[in-house]
Amino acid sequence: MLPSALFARTYAVAHGNPDTAVSRDISPRPHQFKVYRYNPEVPGAKPTMQTYSVDLADCGPMVLDALIKIKNEADPTLTFRRSCREGICGSCAMNINGINTLACLSRIKPEASVTKIYPLPHTYVVKDLVPDLTQFYKQYKSIEPYLKQKGPPPAKENLQSIADRRKLDGLYECILCACCSTSCPSYWWNSDVYLGPAVLMQAFRWIVDSRDDFGYERREALQDPFSVYRCHTIMNCAKTCPKGLNPGLAIAELKLLMARD
Ligand code: SF4
Ligand code: SF4
Ligand code: FES
Repeated sequence: MLPSALFARTYAVAHGNPDTAVSRDISPRPHQFKVYRYNPEVPGAKPTMQTYSVDLADCGPMVLDALIKIKNEADPTLTFRRSCREGICGSCAMNINGINTLACLSRIKPEASVTKIYPLPHTYVVKDLVPDLTQFYKQYKSIEPYLKQKGPPPAKENLQSIADRRKLDGLYECILCACCSTSCPSYWWNSDVYLGPAVLMQAFRWIVDSRDDFGYERREALQDPFSVYRCHTIMNCAKTCPKGLNPGLAIAELKLLMARD
């Protein structure tokens, strides 16, 4: 049975008793969102910026909340990707106020009157905020991002020591949002031949996995002037990663391993 004081307070909050309910400032707080728009289905259409006003007093705290509100209440044609709204799926990556990040993890800054939103830079645009990541996924596929072993599979499971498992920390958490690769100047200019930070970090992740038997072959596949060596350690990738990972460091360690082969 609930203590009576707790019950009274719970009831008061649920039913808005003015004596005990938590007060909340609901005065309107308009905020402008300038959003990149592009619809390739309209012949001859050029990209434009469209401004939407959102009342922050009636909106969740994240940029994705505002985009969903705009789409639901003001403009159903606004197009963007999202799924988990938890920073897990990686699909809401976009450029917000000049930084590649996840809209669902990006707080609206009420002190700035405007938030500017673009698709990830240096990508072809499918529509509005949706980048074409075909090349990115093709490159990811090229590194064979799965366990490969030379012998028959174990009867039960692949064991790994705690120390070997720790080598994957800071690598396996990548959600493939592409924020890092699309912030990398080397990738902007050479994405046809340079694999970029996200894919290289995953290549390294499989090379250092103690359960994988193809480390040497994986490194050999990267031994050309472009796949890895277009990284010039500019570190935009580490600066922008919304998961706090450091692909530039992983690439540096990968280069060291390759130099020893
Ligand atoms: S390293 Fe970070 S920025 Fe790059 S794809 Fe992974 S999660 Fe996204
Ligand atoms: S460290 Fe390498 S991968 Fe990262 S931004 Fe710089 S050039 Fe690109
Ligand atoms: S919606 Fe999944 S990471 Fe943002």
